[in-house]
Amino acid sequence: MEKVTVAVETPYDVLIDHDLLKHAAAHLEDLIQGKKVLIVTDENVASFGYLGNLQEAIVGITSGVDTYVLPAGEAQKSAENYVALQGHLATLNYSRSDVIIALGGGVIGDLVGFTAATYLRGIDYIQIPTTLLSAIDSSVGGKTAIDLPQGKNLVGAFYQPRRVLCDLDTFQTLGETIFEDGCAELIKYGMILDGDLLGQLMDRESPLNALSGDLGAIVKRCVEIKRDVVLEDEHDLGLRQMLNFGHTIGHAVEQASHYKVSHGRGVATGMILTQIMAEKEGLTELFLTERFNKLLNQYHLLNQLNLVKDYDFEDLTAAMTNDKKRRGGEITEIFPDSFGKCRLETMPFDQYAGYLAAIIADLKADKLPIVLDGDEVA
Ligand SMILES: NC(=O)c1ccc[n+]([C@@H]2O[C@H](COP(=O)([O-])OP(=O)(O)OC[C@H]3O[C@@H](n4cnc5c(N)ncnc54)[C@H](O)[C@@H]3O)[C@@H](O)[C@H]2O)c1
Ligand SMILES: [Zn+2]
Repeated sequence: MEKVTVAVETPYDVLIDHDLLKHAAAHLEDLIQGKKVLIVTDENVASFGYLGNLQEAIVGITSGVDTYVLPAGEAQKSAENYVALQGHLATLNYSRSDVIIALGGGVIGDLVGFTAATYLRGIDYIQIPTTLLSAIDSSVGGKTAIDLPQGKNLVGAFYQPRRVLCDLDTFQTLGETIFEDGCAELIKYGMILDGDLLGQLMDRESPLNALSGDLGAIVKRCVEIKRDVVLEDEHDLGLRQMLNFGHTIGHAVEQASHYKVSHGRGVATGMILTQIMAEKEGLTELFLTERFNKLLNQYHLLNQLNLVKDYDFEDLTAAMTNDKKRRGGEITEIFPDSFGKCRLETMPFDQYAGYLAAIIADLKADKLPIVLDGDEVA
């Protein structure tokens, strides 16, 4: 088993292995023994049997397990669900010494995390991520949030989980596109902080998948990167902003598509457009786009770019106006310097909007230096 300890104020372990759900009682005993436990999940995750397996594994050591199953999808990260979940906990008389478990992807993790952060001013929660994206990113680091109609993640808190159990076997039921969404964040880690990891992804014989033998090691590497960043900057004031590479444009694309474009693919779109922007504006001297483009295509992460062509530019910048990364009249963007190295650059929002307008105009006129998946010459 791989273990990464995140040594924040109350340190916690991230456990990564096969077959963890079945042995969840042993891995969670110190946190849930004799307590009431509410498992929150979504319908897909429940339908694959993970909810039943977890419930069965832990019920014997708790004083009772309750379950709460939501439909799947980003729309569930809503204020309505947040209030309903709080009400449910209150109705069941959950106290501050009881525990909530988030079993699912980033949507469930973010909603449960924010609920746990605020119910009775804070109740313990455990993350059991079941998507690659949530395992390597959202379940670690304590950023929790819900969306508002005005934008993504606008209401939230920093609130760390007490443990993270990442059962690699759960990834085997992920659809290919959902697995690939996780690969977008994986590529992000490589681009911003780990050239070796990126090289590992670029040079492999076949693309990473749920059955790859090195998946556990790769998940561990990403969790370590996230841990290091979080330890240095838990509250997102400096280094942690690096993790937002591709996210300024990515969130705007997600929102402008009314969440038809997934988070991972929004981020992939944002990363490649930010990369091209940096080259175009002379902000990076290296010509990385071609290899980056090829890597993203291996995971089919740019197929939605044709959709983005049809979005209104105003819709994209309106979404950004609400982006919390915009402070005062300025925006901090993350630009690649080379593979494995990015830097933060703060500039007036109007200047950034000008850069973006130029990229979007090129995109609409089919003038971007990008090859899309289907266009590739054999
Ligand atoms: N808090 C953070 O630091 C952070 C970081 C990155 C992303 N996020 C958030 O995470 C969310 C995206 O996470 P996500 O991509 O996991 O989305 P998600 O939770 O919507 O999961 C994607 C889909 O996979 C299904 N699914 C989950 N586990 C499965 C399994 N094992 N087998 C089959 N299907 C399964 C879900 O039902 C859903 O349909 C976004 O809301 C994003 O804002 C948060
Ligand atoms: Zn992300």
